[in-house]
Amino acid sequence: MKPSAIKRADELRAEIDDANYRYYMLDDPAITDAEFDALLRELIELESEHPKLRTPDSPTQRVGAAASERFAPYEHARPMLSLASATSFEELRAFDERARKLAGEAVEYVCELKIDGLAIALDYREGSLVRGGTRGDGRVGEDVTPNLRTIRTIPLRLRSAAPSERGAPFLEARGEVYLRKSDFERLNRARECEGLPVFANPRNAASGGVRQLDPTLTSQRRLSFFAYQLVLPETGSQWEALRRLQALGFPVNPNVALTATLDDVLTYCTQWEKRRDELDYEIDGVVVKVNDFAAQERLGVVSRDPRWAIAFKFKPREARTRLIDIAVTVGRTGTLNPNAVLEPVRIGGVTVKSATLHNIDYIENNDIRIGDTVLVTRAGDVIPRVVGPVLAQRTGKERRFRMPDRCPVCGSDVDHPPGEAMSRCTNAACPAQVYERVRHFASRGAMDIEGLGDVMAQQLTERGLVAEIADIYRLDEAALEQIPRTGKKSIESLLRNIAASKGRGLARLLYGLGIRFVGTQTAQILATDFGTIEAIADADDAQLQRSEGIGPEVAGSVVLFFKQPANREMIARLQRAGVQMTAPKRAAHAAGRFEGKTFVLTGTLPTLTRDEATGLIVAAGGKVTSAVSKKTDYVVAGEEPGSKLTKAEQLGISILDEAAFRRLVKA
Ligand code: IVH
Repeated sequence: MKPSAIKRADELRAEIDDANYRYYMLDDPAITDAEFDALLRELIELESEHPKLRTPDSPTQRVGAAASERFAPYEHARPMLSLASATSFEELRAFDERARKLAGEAVEYVCELKIDGLAIALDYREGSLVRGGTRGDGRVGEDVTPNLRTIRTIPLRLRSAAPSERGAPFLEARGEVYLRKSDFERLNRARECEGLPVFANPRNAASGGVRQLDPTLTSQRRLSFFAYQLVLPETGSQWEALRRLQALGFPVNPNVALTATLDDVLTYCTQWEKRRDELDYEIDGVVVKVNDFAAQERLGVVSRDPRWAIAFKFKPREARTRLIDIAVTVGRTGTLNPNAVLEPVRIGGVTVKSATLHNIDYIENNDIRIGDTVLVTRAGDVIPRVVGPVLAQRTGKERRFRMPDRCPVCGSDVDHPPGEAMSRCTNAACPAQVYERVRHFASRGAMDIEGLGDVMAQQLTERGLVAEIADIYRLDEAALEQIPRTGKKSIESLLRNIAASKGRGLARLLYGLGIRFVGTQTAQILATDFGTIEAIADADDAQLQRSEGIGPEVAGSVVLFFKQPANREMIARLQRAGVQMTAPKRAAHAAGRFEGKTFVLTGTLPTLTRDEATGLIVAAGGKVTSAVSKKTDYVVAGEEPGSKLTKAEQLGISILDEAAFRRLVKA
């Protein structure tokens, strides 16, 4: 083999790794997709000419993976099965008859709520969570361990009365990750404020949350978990398994029933279909399971569905109605949001008059036209959603919708960057945007200016009295007198409250600025760690990420915000107005141990994923690069390390295994 081929393959790998890292970890790609493809193609060709070059850690080995390529594969020790479904009581009856015939007369069933989320598997070794993955195709899912660790109700260590169990060498629990309705509403409200598209339902938000590349974002979604399956040899029945799961510290849904007859099963189904709105989480049916594991064994599995369980699906809550019009509103960041104006219709006991259409892509991909009869769904408290048109009802008189090319509020140009779902008003001073920003700035979690609520914010921005957040602090009696129905007393009190808000401190100010991804918690962390707004504004990606819980996406967003001259100017104005921009700074934390140190990862580490190891390094102030060079301080090598290890040995660089790496991190 020519040395030039080896050298070129090495270069290509380094470039591809680096591009992947920038794309996925930093969210800041340095090359285009086409350039990336060209690099990858060249490497594939080179490796097929010289198969010896194809190392296990080569980026080509990721190509064509069944599960998402963004995560490492998670192979299930036992397949994660799906469930056959029943939509009528007749089908449940047939299921019961067959079960009794094959498993014996005295069949007991466990009835459980069918949680509408996403199924995951969790591996515990000696009582500690070591790995967790999604269902995927049932055989291989995605390894999302760092994300699952952020879910507070998933135990990181098991608890149990019996130490033998707690320390079981191996234990697998399965269950559903879901998002509470209340958390879902909060999430969507926040996204709306940030001009991000809202989620159609809690399931999508949960599923997307589990698949974030930045665990900080998973944690912000506040996901929840219910366990419903335990793989432990000594359990004899599902009922027992649920009790064990609970004893081990897993959250188990309390609304389960052990039933002896089909009638009891049917009653359970009827009851919960009626009561589903009482719950703070979505359920879409009932799962009926044969209780006894030996009986389950006898019933077996046909194709991929076990014969010992069935999902009874509730009637979907949807209705047909006419789409009268599509109205466009403008969000805080200028996004143009299309909303369906509907002929009022009752769905699940609520009258629905409007529904979200998300964005233009959604409308076009679903071919939704004004005048269409559309299918609308509503799930619990969730915002109703137009699913799509009923094509059979088309008359030909329907009109296609076009996003306005001028802002419906201020008439400025609308920008729709290619590849993005949202159109935006280009005028940062658009009253609609200013209104949303002012409202958020004055809101309770932010600067908490009593008297500056929705109506006042609207009046102030419409009249041009407030064209930017900082203008709030220039308001005086004369200006406020222009607003109808505002008496002397309320003017005085508003001015007092505005003045008082200047002292709310850095954390609330940061949150109030409405920086994408910066919620109250993140704002608090940044304020405590950095102490002043200047320190935050001047921090780069790496410095920001050194703060606990700040990942690449959040950091990128903060950097972007403070890069805009208009934002810096606004902050200067706030400062001149006397707004306090400092917070008590915490004593320098233990981070920074790896300050200035460069790491290279190679091979598979026994328990840490690449993302986790990278996270630990970055959190301590270090840097991870893809290629070994003289500048590399440490190489962390796992199983099947590639040429990087050889190179590190040649260059005399310190090589660490996982144990040594962990010690160094903790030191
Ligand atoms: S048992 C073989 N129990 O429903 C048993 N599943 O189509 C497999 N689900 O993928 C699952 N709540 O995501 C089971 N109490 C529950 C469930 C439940 C929700 C989901 C799960 C599964 C799907 C079945």
